[in-house]
Formats: sequence, structure tokens, C-alpha cells
Amino acid sequence: MKVLVIGGGGREHALVWKIAQSPLVEKVFCAPGNPGTAQLAENIAIGVEQLDKLLAFAYENKIDLTVVGPEQPLSLGIVDLFESHGLKVFGPSQKAAFIEGSKAFSKDLMQKYNVPTAAYGVFTDQSEAEAFINRTGAPIVVKADGLAAGKGVIIAQTCREAIAAVRDMLSGNAFGKAGSRVVIEEFLSGEEASFLVITDGKNIIPLASAQDHKAVFDNDQGPNTGGMGAYSPAPVVTPDIHEKAMQQVIRPTVDGMAAEGRPYRGVLYAGLMIKDGQIKTLEFNARFGDPECQPLLMRMKSDIVPVLAAVANGDLAGIDLEWHDKAAVCVVMASEGYPGDYRKGDIIAGLNDAAQINDVYVFHAGTAHKDGNCVTSGGRVLGVTALGGSVQDSIATAYRAVDRISWKGVQFRTDIGKKALGRI
Ligand code: AMP
Ligand code: GLY
Repeated sequence: MKVLVIGGGGREHALVWKIAQSPLVEKVFCAPGNPGTAQLAENIAIGVEQLDKLLAFAYENKIDLTVVGPEQPLSLGIVDLFESHGLKVFGPSQKAAFIEGSKAFSKDLMQKYNVPTAAYGVFTDQSEAEAFINRTGAPIVVKADGLAAGKGVIIAQTCREAIAAVRDMLSGNAFGKAGSRVVIEEFLSGEEASFLVITDGKNIIPLASAQDHKAVFDNDQGPNTGGMGAYSPAPVVTPDIHEKAMQQVIRPTVDGMAAEGRPYRGVLYAGLMIKDGQIKTLEFNARFGDPECQPLLMRMKSDIVPVLAAVANGDLAGIDLEWHDKAAVCVVMASEGYPGDYRKGDIIAGLNDAAQINDVYVFHAGTAHKDGNCVTSGGRVLGVTALGGSVQDSIATAYRAVDRISWKGVQFRTDIGKKALGRI
């Protein structure tokens, strides 16, 4: 088979890495890819939003399966476009990807199908939003309705802060069109987990549990990012929580999407808040999480390609996934200033040294080649991922690799996986 992976971040490097191991696959392409994917696949210089060019490439090169990593092309309708030309593609349709593309839609869906979630309101009018905020009180959460690269959520500690955030969003200053409608919701406390499944719209295969670290600094301090590290398994997802997530969140959502005329195929990612044995759903994503994908794929024992192909063919029945009975931890190394403005072009040292450590894989996210060097070119630069017999082992191994890599201004959290240790 010839497989095309769309995207160029750490998640896509992990997907290329896993797909390239399949005996079913003769060649992998990645558009646009990064210097990491270039070691395993042929990178194609087409951006993720250039749907017509991607279609032409897939068509001309007789691609057997296209796997879509990020949310933007899904929201633009890449799956519908490819399928209308008879091409097999893994991912939800545009109508199904709306579950991530509009937080107002996903909250209304959860309400309609009794999926547990925080109390909320949806607003386009400043004064109505202010009345809701003053009625509810702080802390309170303000979210841009549309896609905002994981950064469109403000946890406001005071009503005044929440009102300012709403004003910023509704005026279009923050997040442009994505913020022209806002969701305001009750603040939930607890511990988060990323609960991902693969579904054909009917059959559901849960992936191993995972936990992300969204805040930029240690101890969950500072602004939210796309994710500063992840590990799997997440002990907070006990067998009981797993069952509740499947019965209360995933099953009604998959069935609800079908009932709404938006049958869901692909990865469905539920962000859960867990407290006192109960779960509430924070959000849905229409794709693999980044960086959760990196530790999840390192732990996946089965060939992923038959599963992706089965979903693209619309029938997952009888297919299962096996996992290594090990833990994996991914530490994201980021540019100074991220998630705000950051510099590009710093030379990255130590990549080869780090790669020599057993059970370590360094996934590239924001890197580029320049004058014979590998340099930084994004906010999240690398996802240093290690597999170990326990979470403790994999944390130690991942940080041993991190210690060998450096560039000017590099930042990373030093506490990835710590919450898991507190539970075992
Ligand atoms: P979302 O993109 O909706 O998952 O929000 C991003 C992050 O903001 C989540 O992973 C949580 O850390 C935080 N968050 C979102 N909604 C809430 C909420 N209602 N209460 C507390 N934290 C939240
Ligand atoms: N790591 C969170 C996300 O992919 O949205």
C-alpha cells in the first residue's frame, strides 16, 4: 500500500513512524511533513489546507490510504473531497468534524444526548454574556467557539477577567472569526484525562488511556498550550472510569452524531475531567491528540494500518488493538516564549546522542533544516518519547534523553508524568 499522512507536527511524525513499520505498506508520503518524517517517508511540499493540491497528489500517485492528522483540513472537508473522488481516507467528514470545529455545537450535542458536561451558555452579545458571568460567578471559563489551536480557552479567576476575555473574543481581536461566538461555562476541578477511541460510526475500539499536560509551566502553572507532554497509561482512568467514559460519553456521542445525520468515523477524542469517581466532558477533538499520539503509538503493539484502513472502508467489525504492557512518556521541548511569540532558527544540538538511548524516540514537531543543521522552526519543537517497564522508568529515560538535547532558550516541563506516580 501507499499511504499519505497529512500534517507536519509531532503527531504526524509518530503516525508516519508507526505506519512505516507495517508490512502492508510499501511507501509513506507526508504532506508537508518535517525533518523527522523525512527520515521515514517522502515529504511533499503541500500545506494541510491546500486541499485541491493534496487531492491531485493522492490521485496521481494512486495513494491507497490517506490519514489526516490535524483538525484544519478535517474542518475544511478533506474527507468529503477525497471520498467524492473514490479515494480512501481516515478521518471524520466535515459535518462530523464539527464536533471539534464548534464548541457551541458540541456542548448542545452533549446536552441533547445527556453526556455529562459543565453547565454553559452560548453568546454573541456582550451584555448577555456579562449577565451570565455575573450570575454564575468566578472562577469561570470562556471559550472561543471555533478552532484556536488549543489556545482559545481562558480560565478566568474573576468576573472582570472573564468579561474582558469575552470582549476580546467577540470584538475579533482574539482568535478572529473563531471568537465571534463564545461558550461560557462552569469551572470544573479534578484531574484530566484524554480518552481516545477509533470508530467507524458504529463499532468502537478504545485506545489506551493517556494524560496531557496543557499548561506551559510545572505544576500546571501558566497559560495553556497545545500540550507540553503526555503519558500512557493514565492511572486516573481506572477500569470503572473507563467503563463510565464508554457508556456515558463515547457511546451516546457516537450514536448521537449518527442520529444527527453526522455519522462519525475516525478518532474521537474526549477530554475528560475526573473527580470523586465521576466524569464530565470538557471537549471533543476530531483527531489524535498531540502529544498524546506519541506515547500511545509507542505503546501500540498491533499494526495500525488494518485499523485505519477498516475505518476508511467503513467497517471495523472484528478488529481489535493490542498494547504493550509498558508505559510511555513524551516530554515536549519548546521554544522560548511559547505559547506566546517565539524565535525560530536556533540550532538544535544533541539529537543523535539522545537517539542512542534504548527505547527512546525523538519525534520532530517544529524543526527545519538550515545550512546543514537541524534548527527550531515552531513553538513545540520536539517530543522526546520513551517506553519503559513503568511510568517511573519511562519518565527517567525520557528526561535522560531530554538532557542530551539543547538549544538557546529551550524550555520544557520537568514534571511530566508526576501525577501518575502519585496514583501508583
Ligand atoms: P478545551 O479545549 O475545551 O479542552 O479546554 C482546554 C483546557 O482548558 C482543558 O484541557 C482544561 O484544562 C481547561 N478547561 C476547559 N474547560 C474547563 C472547565 N469547564 N473547567 C476547568 N477547566 C477547563
Ligand atoms: N493535546 C491536546 C490536543 O491535541 O488537543
